[in-house]
Amino acid sequence: MNDLTDGACVFDAYGTLLDVASAAAKSTDMLGADAARLGQIWRTKQLEYSWLRSLMGEHADFWQLTGDALDFAMETVGIDDATVRQRLMDLYFTLDAFPETSGVLQTLKAAGMKTAILSNGSPAMLQGAIDHAGIAHLLDAVYSVEDVGVFKPHPSVYQMAVDGLNLTPDKIRFLSSNAWDVAGASYFGFR
Ligand code: LAC
Repeated sequence: MNDLTDGACVFDAYGTLLDVASAAAKSTDMLGADAARLGQIWRTKQLEYSWLRSLMGEHADFWQLTGDALDFAMETVGIDDATVRQRLMDLYFTLDAFPETSGVLQTLKAAGMKTAILSNGSPAMLQGAIDHAGIAHLLDAVYSVEDVGVFKPHPSVYQMAVDGLNLTPDKIRFLSSNAWDVAGASYFGFR
């Protein structure tokens, strides 16, 4: 492995640094046994909508897709309640970071790495979650697909990090819990 100070670690946000299951998990008082199932359908549909919109060339931001996907998930599990919907959206805006997120970013920064987020999230929802997690000072940059108007794994998304960090793709290590995102990033040339 090359010198760790030579380049950047760029992270996916949702599911990688941020726990997407935490919104539904915190709502078991309202959702009961449906919480986990709803959370899973919500996430799957959110991603399907992102790929569908990118292919159709009909972009809408990730916050809208998150709401659209929640509507689908709630209908699927048979919940029709505006208060529940609002609470879940509020929780999604301030998703918990995974417990190790802050420590990992601190370690990378201490080793001299640049760190960044490259995410489908809209700037506002990314800011909400980053503030909630208290990790803004551990990130050199936050890139949202809103600047290119198409979702991952479109290459123009990964190109944002190359341009913004002024590094060649081989100097960028990309980390994501989403295998399809890793595939897109690897194909683009990230490590
Ligand atoms: C993101 C989604 C893919 O943060 O998790 O980009």
